[in-house]
Amino acid sequence: MQNAYLKIEQSSPLQGVAELTGAKNAVLVTIASLLLTSGKSVLRNVPYSADVLQMIALLEQLGAQVIFSPENHLLEVDTTHVNKWHVSAEIMKKMRASILVMGPLLARFGYADIALPGGCVLGTRPIDYHLNSFRKMGVEVAQDGDFLHGRASQLCAQKIVLAYPSVGATENIMMASVLTKGVTRIVNAALEPEVLDLIEVLKKMGAHIEIAPPATIVIEGVQEVHPIEHTILSDRLEAGSLLIAAAATGGSISIPQAPADALEVFLLKLEEMGHHITVGEHEVGITLHATKNPHAVSFKTSPYPGFPTDLQAPMMVLQCLAEGTSIIEETVFENRLVHVRELEKMGAQIVVHNNTATITGVEALYGAQVIASDIRAACALAIAGMAAKGTTIMTGVQHWKRGYESLEKKLALLGAHIWLHDDEDEMDMTPLNERSISKQIRA
Ligand code: EPU
Repeated sequence: MQNAYLKIEQSSPLQGVAELTGAKNAVLVTIASLLLTSGKSVLRNVPYSADVLQMIALLEQLGAQVIFSPENHLLEVDTTHVNKWHVSAEIMKKMRASILVMGPLLARFGYADIALPGGCVLGTRPIDYHLNSFRKMGVEVAQDGDFLHGRASQLCAQKIVLAYPSVGATENIMMASVLTKGVTRIVNAALEPEVLDLIEVLKKMGAHIEIAPPATIVIEGVQEVHPIEHTILSDRLEAGSLLIAAAATGGSISIPQAPADALEVFLLKLEEMGHHITVGEHEVGITLHATKNPHAVSFKTSPYPGFPTDLQAPMMVLQCLAEGTSIIEETVFENRLVHVRELEKMGAQIVVHNNTATITGVEALYGAQVIASDIRAACALAIAGMAAKGTTIMTGVQHWKRGYESLEKKLALLGAHIWLHDDEDEMDMTPLNERSISKQIRA
């Protein structure tokens, strides 16, 4: 893994049309939700990313039969023979989204034995909302070292009030309640597009779910649900990242599938910077023409429909090169400014106080050796590398591969100078800055 890295060189302005893959944060929970059913489901537009492969491995461990055709983005999952509810620590530690199987396992079997989840290091990332909600529904949850044991002879429908609209807790409680007799209400629920897509998935299975404004999800339990066919929605975060990459290099790109209505505050901020945005009919499709003189803008992250925390790090790169000073406040995660240290290595001027970064725009960033510590930091550093003078070498590419399907190829097609040197390539023991890059991914 240490030998894997991205090499990025200053890129000419990105130009062209980009296609989107299926949304990572929708596909993982959709795969988990199939545990509620018995039979064969078909998912389309499934991205070929490391997290998807982990979720497939998790379902296989529980007894599901899975066929994945990455070239067609087609996933067939047969859950007929799922007969286990124990997920190994090895799988749980690799991905926080693995906690999302707890709700479906409790609903299907009344049992779930899972290790505490791992994933990106974005602070302590507790799972107390998940566990307290399950307890309220009648689940006995015991912890034995790193292992959690959930037991419920019968789940009980309840009103569950979330102190914060957690995406994962909302999804987990919904999945636990679709087969629970009575009416479950999730008050202060998350309503991210990926949560709404899960509602569509569960309704296709036969679940009864409604949204009561402003943010209560009402689930009326049904006796059984059935397998489905479903197309994963386009990744709004990949769309946002591509637009930022175009803006950072002074380019012009179009993304015909981009869901503009799921990116409103983000697009507003790009426009406030001076970038020219055009949105297609019915809010689908976004074109960006970058301004030559971007102005710094301030923003704070918040639950949907606010500014998405997953675009905070890439958007910070644009502020590093904009005229003026911007203030970025991260309110969703307690530790999601780790990329600041790496951007500083590239010449950025940033002062961090608690969860707020104050950025003073500079004339130029410079290539450096940087380390990605989470999925979105990896994206930010790659974009910074495209805008920076010289060569950037980014390690920590396992995060890049967890979140995106060959994003480096997509960027290269638009004109970015970016290459992935993968750990599957031959071992290379020479120092990073002396290595030749063995794998050029410019299509
Ligand atoms: N929180 C708690 N207790 C809980 C659950 C959450 O305190 O039991 C806190 C978290 O620590 C965090 C906040 O609530 O400070 C929000 O967390 P949330 O539960 O909403 O996030 P998540 O479900 O763990 C999903 C995405 C993240 C995305 C967030 C916010 C998936 C697989 N992950 O995480 O995606 O940032 O929602 O939108 O859907 C990424 O894609 O890089 C990523 C981290």
